[in-house]
Amino acid sequence: MTNHPSNGKAVLEAVRTAIDKHGNNREELIPILNDINHTVGYLPKEALEEVSRLVKVPKSQLFAVTTFYRMLSTRPRGRHVIQFCESAPCHVAGGRKVWETLLDELKVNPEETTPDGKWTLITVSCLGICGVGPVIVIDDDIYGNVAPEQVHDILAKYD
Ligand code: FES
Repeated sequence: MTNHPSNGKAVLEAVRTAIDKHGNNREELIPILNDINHTVGYLPKEALEEVSRLVKVPKSQLFAVTTFYRMLSTRPRGRHVIQFCESAPCHVAGGRKVWETLLDELKVNPEETTPDGKWTLITVSCLGICGVGPVIVIDDDIYGNVAPEQVHDILAKYD
């Protein structure tokens, strides 16, 4: 997740590209926001304002959507986003220990970004792959059956 456009022009470009792809259709709101979040790294205020204008959705509704979907963020995130499943089946399968190890390794609180801007750790509800719990997802990579002693090596794969 490097080289995200950070200037206003590039952000508006990301908005237009997403809307060109999905159409300025309210039903496509999540894919539109997801694409922008992916391109820019998060959803800056000017992006939400532009989406609101072009798709004709009130800004309050956009903020509600970004709060509901954990992968969307209105705040800048780290180069890598770690999603940790905190639902019961993963928890029962040993998720708690994995979670404690993650907190220990990253030295960060949930929902926060490490001071070097490398990692953002977020918790999510069931990702639908409970059969291989405990589950963590880093960017687009899914790790299942994670044991606490694997956490260090998994994190070491990322620059
Ligand atoms: Fe973790 Fe379903 S409970 S993936």
